[in-house]
Amino acid sequence: MRLKNKSRNLTTIRCYPGRRCSFSVLLWSIVGCLVLLNLYCFIFEKDAPHGGAHLRINQHQHFRELEEVEEDNIQMPPPRKRSARAVKRKPKRPTTLIEEFLDEASQLRHVFFPGLRTAIDPCRSSGNDTYYYYPGRMWLDTEGNPIQAHGGGILHDQRTKMYYWYGEYKDGPTYHAHKKGAARVDVIGVGCYSSKDLWTWKNEGIVLAAEEHNETHDLYKLNVLERPKVIYNEKTGKYVMWMHIDDTNYTKALTGVAISDLPTGPFNYLYSKRPHGYESRDMTLFKDDDGVAYLVYSSEDNSELHIGPLNEEYMDVTQSMRRILVGQHREAPALFKHEGTYYMITSGCTGWAPNEALAHAAESIMGPWETIGNPCIGGNKVFRETTFFAQSTFVLPLPELHGSFIFMADRWNPADLKDSRYVWLPLRVSGPVDHPLEYNFGFPLWSRVSVYWHKRWRLPYRWQEIN
Ligand SMILES: *[C@@H]1O[C@H](CO)[C@@H](O)[C@H](O)[C@H]1NC(C)=O
Ligand SMILES: *[C@@H]1O[C@H](CO)[C@@H](O)[C@H](O)[C@H]1NC(C)=O
Ligand SMILES: *[C@@H]1O[C@H](CO)[C@@H](O)[C@H](O)[C@H]1NC(C)=O
Repeated sequence: MRLKNKSRNLTTIRCYPGRRCSFSVLLWSIVGCLVLLNLYCFIFEKDAPHGGAHLRINQHQHFRELEEVEEDNIQMPPPRKRSARAVKRKPKRPTTLIEEFLDEASQLRHVFFPGLRTAIDPCRSSGNDTYYYYPGRMWLDTEGNPIQAHGGGILHDQRTKMYYWYGEYKDGPTYHAHKKGAARVDVIGVGCYSSKDLWTWKNEGIVLAAEEHNETHDLYKLNVLERPKVIYNEKTGKYVMWMHIDDTNYTKALTGVAISDLPTGPFNYLYSKRPHGYESRDMTLFKDDDGVAYLVYSSEDNSELHIGPLNEEYMDVTQSMRRILVGQHREAPALFKHEGTYYMITSGCTGWAPNEALAHAAESIMGPWETIGNPCIGGNKVFRETTFFAQSTFVLPLPELHGSFIFMADRWNPADLKDSRYVWLPLRVSGPVDHPLEYNFGFPLWSRVSVYWHKRWRLPYRWQEIN
């Protein structure tokens, strides 16, 4: 990073012997320089004209719009009428918005899970609503069915110039396998949707299907298949899918691998294993600019993350692995890169219930990783502390729009998992972080990762033509 390199040069100023040189004077001079530098960078970043093209300026203005903080005040409903017996049985306790969110019978249900009438329907939208994302609303594919791609990720395919969205196809009944088991839907498979504009999605079908009858197979319908991610391998010409494979009780903690010649499948399931010999639950893949791909997974009872490069074919991990965010209990990792720095967003571990997201940053992908705070901006306090009632799954880079990404999250509906919603919001990397790291004289080493809440937003006009 620019700022950091400069600060490194500054710290090489030497004290000449013979001259009395107070360490604190030197320190304060450095601090002073850093303040100026910081201000300069900040102003420069804010006000520098971005290229000459008309489109670029439009784009810049548009992102200012998206960075405007949008408040959202959900009113708590009046306390529910309770029978005298019910009051006796259970003393009244304050209901919170999170409790309302988790309560199927809540009067606020429509706020979190709006009905079909307000669905995003790209094929039937009137001019005004074209390309608008409405986080939390139902989202229909080109056939008019709700998109089934939960815990998903997006591949931008260079060959077909299409986006492919892969995720858990959960269009089945939600139930509990036993009393203490989490809500689940039997495995149906991995759904795939294609799009040119990231808004209109065509259902490409189930590209990796569950096994109906073979009980010993990883993809047997009573097992668990979560968070599928697909990357393309230039060397082998194969599309490679990695996913979390487990049994109903989440005791196996495996990663599974499947490959295909086409982005639209069918994927051929190869095998599963515990990577590096460790438990692996929530996971993601990240393919770096140099073609090296990495697996990131929650391990050791979800208390830490592990990261390691895949082999050249992306079919297996290598021996190299680092433990990161040890003891921080994070899951749902989504990794991305901006100006040579790696960033990651994770969630806490609270099952289907929403919790606070955290952003992390690292100069080397293998770590050390630093936690730089909650990226969520806007909505209200509860929104920010619950990742807008959702959980991270993927961050999609938009190389056309420098420093801009789409943050993809799942608003899980544990009462009816197939009706879980997608929360897509603009993510920007810029500005200083909230909580500067102590050892850096209190000055930001990283840029802030910000996810901005919007009830309704869209990408800049003709964003794909920029550059
Ligand atoms: C489109 O927006 C304009 C201006 O906001 C409004 O007058 C018009 O009724 C809208 N049209 C539709 C079909 O919603
Ligand atoms: C069931 O799956 C296992 C594991 O993949 C495999 O070894 C076996 O051949 C399969 N059985 C049948 C009948 O297909
Ligand atoms: C899951 O756990 C329950 C309760 O502990 C047990 O009855 C069930 O057999 C387990 N299922 C599997 C597939 O291990």
